[in-house]
Amino acid sequence: MTVTIVGSQLGDEGKGGVVDLYGDAADVVARYQGGDNAGHTVVHDGEKYKLSLVPSGAVRGKVGVLGNGCVVNPETLFDEIDTLRERGLEPDVRVAERAHVILPYHRALDGIEEEEKEDLAAGTTKRGIGPTYEDKAGRRGVRIGDLLDPEVLRERLEYVVPQKKALAEDVFGKETGEEFDIDHLYETYREYGERLAEEEMTVDCGTFLQERIDDGDNVMLEGAQGTSLDIDHGVYPYVTSSNPTAGGATVGTGLGPTVVGDGEVIGIVKAYLSRVGTGPLPTELGGVEGQTPDYDADAGAGGDEEALATTIRDEGGEYGTVTGRPRRVGWLDMPMLRHAARANGFTGLAINHIDVLAGLDEVKVGHSYEFDGDEVYTMPPTTEQWGRCEATFRTFDGWPEVDWADVAAEGYDAIPENARTYLEYISDELDAPIYAVGVGPGREETVIAENPYESQ
Ligand code: IMP
Repeated sequence: MTVTIVGSQLGDEGKGGVVDLYGDAADVVARYQGGDNAGHTVVHDGEKYKLSLVPSGAVRGKVGVLGNGCVVNPETLFDEIDTLRERGLEPDVRVAERAHVILPYHRALDGIEEEEKEDLAAGTTKRGIGPTYEDKAGRRGVRIGDLLDPEVLRERLEYVVPQKKALAEDVFGKETGEEFDIDHLYETYREYGERLAEEEMTVDCGTFLQERIDDGDNVMLEGAQGTSLDIDHGVYPYVTSSNPTAGGATVGTGLGPTVVGDGEVIGIVKAYLSRVGTGPLPTELGGVEGQTPDYDADAGAGGDEEALATTIRDEGGEYGTVTGRPRRVGWLDMPMLRHAARANGFTGLAINHIDVLAGLDEVKVGHSYEFDGDEVYTMPPTTEQWGRCEATFRTFDGWPEVDWADVAAEGYDAIPENARTYLEYISDELDAPIYAVGVGPGREETVIAENPYESQ
């Protein structure tokens, strides 16, 4: 069977920990979208591994697959594999031949366009994600399979590189270097192709996964980012360029929707909100310069909200895994979660980081929005409309700091009562049962209510 893991908010919900936890029962862990924009931290045998591309299951001895819906930077791929090998692991990573390749000019153009966009900039990770998906949709991309065939690679580069060079030089007025040089790119990427072939890493993803399922293996489909960063269902244009929502799991792997739908879809929820990047955020606490629209550093500094935001940010380690940027933080946004529950069809929830909120007198939740005089319970379709929404808050009594390792060992009923009230409110509103509750960063600091691989 399949278990699909989806972020229900704006990324960084702690998906890696859940993949890691349930991944034990999985034989194969496949990513279905995104690229090396997806920072995830995996703790294994007391060692911390920070990855941005390799599926986290590969750290735990599973087969890790980068599906056709991913965009792959071979440099990052081999760097991460080599680092894991130096640390004594032997990761088994496969890459879909249909996946698109991030080339150096994509990274360069990501940076150039972000600068140019000013207020419309998404605050991207500058990993070249958007420009690579643009070329995929524009039918001028280079795919992993093309790296294995030097003639095809050369032909593709000769068509596309002059266009990219002209874009950088003539439209944006930038000087270009070897990242726009056909011969340099051809040599470098042909060599990546040779290594992919030597290490027998490439697969026809859908066929590979279906065969494993037919053989009785458990497959986990790991989404990166989150629902509100989805190019279709997120807060456009402050989104990533792929589909983190559960539908992406089928298109991005080649498994049929009935196969994915036959399994479980688990929504990962962080007990509060965090966001890297720009755009509105109705439940935001305080703000972060350079990311919060119209942020006024003088007005914010020293206020109660700002202090609370700093506490949550520091307790929760809310600094980007990939970029190190401080994340914006806010109270839980229920309209955002209701939208996610519908778009993904969650069969269960994993709610993380309730320990981060411990010790606060009260915990607030944006229960609904006031939007142009109406009370609304889900996100409006345009981001401009969302920016006009004012959160209507509900207040919950806080819960104390406790020994969370003991709580994890004892089970759900050991969670402080007020925290359980909070969790059950979320579960009721989203009409999905709680499968797991994260009470700390380690794998053992999770209360497991249900293991999806055992429930079917
Ligand atoms: P891109 O994916 O680098 O193009 O960035 C587009 C938007 O998605 C930006 O707002 C990023 O901050 C956000 N984003 C991309 N990857 C992640 C992630 O793994 N966690 C959180 N936000 C992300």
